[in-house]
Amino acid sequence: MTIAHQVDREKIDGILNRYPHGEASSLVHLLQEMQAAFNWLPPETIRAVADHLAVPLTKAYSVATFYKAFSLRPRGRKIVKVCLGTSCHIRGASIVVEDIRQGLGIGPGETTADMAYTAEVVNCVGACALAPVVIADEKYLADVKPGTILKRLEKG
Ligand code: FES
Repeated sequence: MTIAHQVDREKIDGILNRYPHGEASSLVHLLQEMQAAFNWLPPETIRAVADHLAVPLTKAYSVATFYKAFSLRPRGRKIVKVCLGTSCHIRGASIVVEDIRQGLGIGPGETTADMAYTAEVVNCVGACALAPVVIADEKYLADVKPGTILKRLEKG
C-alpha cells in the first residue's frame, strides 16, 4: 500500500533550529532526530537537513541509506515482525502473515495508512520453542495461533 504522507514543516524547523547552520558534522545527529520524530525519514526531512547544514543532498542520502537505524520508507508506530524461519513456518507463520494482510490490509514491508502498524518478516529469531513467533515492538508473542494475532496486538 502506498501512503500519502504529510510532513509537518514546523516540526522539521523546530528540530533544525536547535542546530547551527552549516555545521556538517551534525549530519548524523540531525538525521537521528528526524528519524525519532517521524519514525522514518521522509524525503522532505533529508532535503531540509542537507540545506540547513549546507551538505550535498547526495551526501545526506548516502548517510541515510548507510545506517540501518534509518528508514527511508514510512514506518508505523508499532513494528510487527513475523518470524518465517523453518520452525515458525511449519507451525503456521504464513497464516499469521495472511491474518495481518486480511486484518490490517498490509503485507510485509508495508505500513497502514494511519501509520499505526508496519509489517515485516524476519528469519529465525532464536526462539523456535515458542513458534510461531511474532515480535511486536520488541515484545515476543509466542505460539501465535491462526486468527489471534490482531487481538494480541491490540492487547499490546
Ligand atoms: S524459526 Fe522462528 S524463532 Fe526460530
